[in-house]
Amino acid sequence: MKILFTEDRKNQAAIEKVAKLSNSIYSQKGEGPFYHIHTFGCQMNDHDSERMAALLELMGYEYTEDETRASLILLNTCAIREHAEERVYGFIGRLKSLKENDLIIGVCGCMVQQKHVLDKIKKSYPYVDMVFGTHNYYQLPIYLLKALEGEKSISVLEDSPRIVEELPAIRASKISAFVNIMEGCNNFCTYCVVPYTRGREKSRLPEDIIKEVKGLVEEGTREITLLGQNVNSYGRGLEEEVDFPELLNRLNEIECLYRIRFMTSHPKDLSDRLIEAMKLEKMAPSFHLPVQSGSTRVLKMMNRKYTREDYLDKVYKLRQALPHIGLTTDIIVGFPGEELEDLEATISLIEEVGYDSAFTFIYSKRLGTPAAGYEDKLDYEEKHRRFDRMLGKLNEIVIEKNHSRLGQVFEVLVEEETEAGIYQGRTPQGFLVRFPGSREDLGQLRDVKITRTKNFSLEGEICH
Ligand code: SAH
Ligand code: SF4
Ligand code: F3S
Repeated sequence: MKILFTEDRKNQAAIEKVAKLSNSIYSQKGEGPFYHIHTFGCQMNDHDSERMAALLELMGYEYTEDETRASLILLNTCAIREHAEERVYGFIGRLKSLKENDLIIGVCGCMVQQKHVLDKIKKSYPYVDMVFGTHNYYQLPIYLLKALEGEKSISVLEDSPRIVEELPAIRASKISAFVNIMEGCNNFCTYCVVPYTRGREKSRLPEDIIKEVKGLVEEGTREITLLGQNVNSYGRGLEEEVDFPELLNRLNEIECLYRIRFMTSHPKDLSDRLIEAMKLEKMAPSFHLPVQSGSTRVLKMMNRKYTREDYLDKVYKLRQALPHIGLTTDIIVGFPGEELEDLEATISLIEEVGYDSAFTFIYSKRLGTPAAGYEDKLDYEEKHRRFDRMLGKLNEIVIEKNHSRLGQVFEVLVEEETEAGIYQGRTPQGFLVRFPGSREDLGQLRDVKITRTKNFSLEGEICH
């Protein structure tokens, strides 16, 4: 079920009222009220923040880097690991000293979807003015209006059957843009909090996605990254029979769009049809395929629904179809019950696949997840020792692969100027490269020769 952003009357009325207030501030001071958003977590949160920024600017707010100038500070939070949550609490604590004036503080995102977090905010941080969750963040205008009228609000929904369409967004990059294709997750990996913070899986209609992408391309976007917790299961529950490979086929037809990327994929749902779709003209040959562990025993305890052999088989098929594909992954070390031989299995899988890079994590216990109840005999030091061993091997491989790129030429989409005269973009495989360039290169595909490799980065020159 979907709802158009403009159909939520109460929200629209709040937008108008807040806009009037900020307009009167603007006419007195010559500048609108300022907002600052601090985003933690993954691309989902980044993109939600892009949407909240657009809502605020619609209401006359202006962005500031400087928290001390802001009349509104929003923290868009992440609950994936304990460390992420601790950082947020630290941040909210620091904001107390800024609270004196008329500052409004809002906390939203994945963390507040958990009851124990709401209780802690109410008890320990009473100066927070508004708390709202991942299913109703687009109603920020309603909560902001209340806060401006001196009323606090806590509004968190467990889930929502609705997808909101036609929300505006102010994207970090015009050239390479995030596009959500689905929300939520139904996989319930035993360590993961996301199914509880983002609700059940819901796919957007293909026509809504295509409309959004066409609109972006008209404004100069050349690359899109399709977002979802498990994009491979896109389309389940939609009336029209359309799956992820079919969606890619349709997006591939859009003129002036150069590249299509996506994240994340679950290995259990990586089909032969998707491998075939990877050969489409605009598909970037790059694949983020989180393995989590190389041990079938641990994968079973994680409820990942594939074995080490299934995973390696899919990697083999991907490489057969696209020999130069970039492969990246996520790895968790120290899952409860992990034995040394399981760690060895993860290390040998890393060697066998030869990843281009990986996000690596030490297992973090998350309240409310099944694994939180598993017996965990490993102490902190042992987990760190194991993590360092795994990372040592991974880095060896990643660094060697990176150095082997010296002298190679890649087609790079030029995305941004990072310092005067130095530009940056990605190769089809997703490797970031920096090189001297000019404004005319922005948004263009350029052949770049790698002239210098560092351990984890690449520098080059445009071939003329
Ligand atoms: N939906 C994506 C990833 C979501 S979270 C997928 O399934 O691939 C990103 C990564 O965080 C996960 O892939 C996992 O490696 C890590 N992660 C999630 N929960 C964790 C936990 N409790 N402890 C440590 N790492 C975790
Ligand atoms: Fe979490 Fe697993 Fe869903 Fe990824 S697929 S978001 S790891 S439950
Ligand atoms: Fe964190 Fe929520 Fe993303 S928990 S990783 S911000 S979906």
